[in-house]
Amino acid sequence: MAAAVVGVSLRRRVPARLLLLPVRAAGAGGGCRGAQTAAAAAPASQAPPRIKKFSIYRWDPDKPGDKPRMQTYEVDLNKCGPMVLDALIKIKNEMDSTLTFRRSCREGICGSCAMNIAGGNTLACTKRIDRDLSKTTKIYPLPHMYVVKDLVPVSSQRGWDQGRYATTGTFLWMLCDGLYECILCACCSTSCPSYWWNGDKYLGPAVLMQAYRWMIDSRDDYTEERLAQLQDPFSLYRCHTIMNCTRTCPKGLNPGKAIAEIKKMMATYKEKTAAA
Ligand code: SF4
Ligand code: SF4
Ligand code: FES
Repeated sequence: MAAAVVGVSLRRRVPARLLLLPVRAAGAGGGCRGAQTAAAAAPASQAPPRIKKFSIYRWDPDKPGDKPRMQTYEVDLNKCGPMVLDALIKIKNEMDSTLTFRRSCREGICGSCAMNIAGGNTLACTKRIDRDLSKTTKIYPLPHMYVVKDLVPVSSQRGWDQGRYATTGTFLWMLCDGLYECILCACCSTSCPSYWWNGDKYLGPAVLMQAYRWMIDSRDDYTEERLAQLQDPFSLYRCHTIMNCTRTCPKGLNPGKAIAEIKKMMATYKEKTAAA
C-alpha cells in the first residue's frame, strides 16, 4: 500500500517527460494507439474477464476416507497478480480457505513455496502464470515426498554441517559464487530419480551442493573430514549425472556440477589416503 501511495504522489509532482512516460499529442496518427492505451488503462473491472483454470492436488488426511484428487479453480487474470503464488493466495482468500500450501517471503528467498507446477519443480512465487487461457495449469506437491496436506510435503531433507573455521583465513567468496545462493528449496532433490529411489541413503543434490559450498570455503579446515563422510557407495556416488537437478533449479544454479567437483576432490583424497 505504501509503495502505491508513493508512486501516485511522484507522478503528480514530476512532469511526465522526466518520468520517461509516453506523451501523446491529440490529433492525426494518434487515434488508434491512443485508443489502445485507453483500453490498456481501463480498470480491470471493465475489461472482459480472462479466466484461467488451475487444477490443484487436494488431499486432507484429517478427513476420514478422503482420497487424493484434483480440484479445478477458475481465476480471472485481470484481478490477479502475475505469479502462480498470487493465484493460489487469491483462491485461498476468495474461493476456498481450505486449500493448503506453504509460502513466506514471496521473493524467491525462503524456498517454502516449492511445488510442481505444469510438470516442473519450481517456486510458486517466481513462476509466472501461463497466460494461455486454453491450457489448464496443473499444480502438485513436490514429487516423491510424503504429503502433509494438499501442496505441503514433509520436509525431510537431511542437513549438512555448516563451516567450521579452525583458522581465520581470507574468505575467497568467488569460490562460493553460484553456491551460496542456494535456498534449500529441494526442487532439485525431488526431481532426481536417484534421490527418489534411494532418498534414505543418497544425500541428493541440495545437500551435496551445500557440502561442496563448505568444502571449497577458503576458511573451512575440515574438507578431509567432509570427504571422509561421503566414502560409501550411496551418499555421493548414486548421482549418475542425469542433470534433472540443474535443469529444474529455480535459482539457476548447477548442483550437478557441484557434485562432479566433489567427485574430483574425492579422487584426489582417495589417492592421498591410499599413499599415506
Ligand atoms: S540447488 Fe537450486 S533447486 Fe536445489 S535446493 Fe538449491 S536453490 Fe533449490
Ligand atoms: S545429476 Fe545427479 S543429483 Fe542431479 S538429477 Fe542427476 S543423478 Fe540426481
Ligand atoms: S515464498 Fe519464499 S521462495 Fe516462494
